[in-house]
Amino acid sequence: MNDVIVVASGKGGTGKSTVCVGLSAALVKQNKRVLLIDCDCGMRGIDLMLDASEEILFDCSDAVKGNCTPREAVYQSKNLQGVHLMAAPFDTDNEISPSVFKQLVDELKTSYDYVIIDSPAGIGSGFMTAAAPADRALIVTNAEPVSLRGAVKIRTRLATLGISDMRLIINRFDRKHFESLSCYEDLDEVVDKAGTRLIALIPLDLRLSAMTQNGCAGLNWSPAVTVFDCLARRLEGEQVQLAFKG
Ligand SMILES: Nc1ncnc2c1ncn2[C@@H]1O[C@H](COP(=O)(O)OP(=O)(O)OP(=O)(O)O)[C@@H](O)[C@H]1O
Ligand SMILES: [Mg+2]
Repeated sequence: MNDVIVVASGKGGTGKSTVCVGLSAALVKQNKRVLLIDCDCGMRGIDLMLDASEEILFDCSDAVKGNCTPREAVYQSKNLQGVHLMAAPFDTDNEISPSVFKQLVDELKTSYDYVIIDSPAGIGSGFMTAAAPADRALIVTNAEPVSLRGAVKIRTRLATLGISDMRLIINRFDRKHFESLSCYEDLDEVVDKAGTRLIALIPLDLRLSAMTQNGCAGLNWSPAVTVFDCLARRLEGEQVQLAFKG
């Protein structure tokens, strides 16, 4: 199986890149071959999260321009053994068109079980490129109205692109915060408003944040890591309960 998954959100900062890293690590633990592509052109960050920024000579725009072969633009993560990374270009001038990006991913995906694509926030041209090669999508939201409106916009846009296999991830969930906001009766209302089936609820987890911001060394246990392990199994179609229910 070569599964291409775009991780997207309408609003910025919902946790897309963190989810991409945590999910990739979990899939590798399940012996999957994983390529993580940072498609946030001009705002890349996964190279830092994987402590690989020093090594990166070529990014995906180099691969499509022929400055290198696609495989020469793929790097190994030191701290998350088995996770392969293709970086986004550092500058926005090097944005890639959806059709060219799709061609690149179609060529690479034969060597992997999963290609995870980190999208820039929003429904603009960067998102269109990130979504072009995807078979399915994970929509990341926080349980807040502005974030949720973004999730609805993304769902609508994905549908127009013909991507119907979508699942919702509610990230950075904290019960006290959720109740003090008083925006929703319960989490079911959040899921109903998003209009997308829930696949994971990820707790607010400061340890996860600290680890991923520091190159992922020691990212082996935290409450969210358990959720990523469960998410990876659910993506595989296993019938497992949510690891965290809020
Ligand atoms: N479950 C979590 N618990 C605590 N902090 C988190 C969690 N998920 C993400 N964060 C933190 O939230 C911030 C934003 O996360 P991240 O960069 O992954 O979001 P993003 O959606 O990729 O942002 P952008 O739209 O700018 O690309 C980071 O500081 C990250 O460490
Ligand atoms: Mg990001």
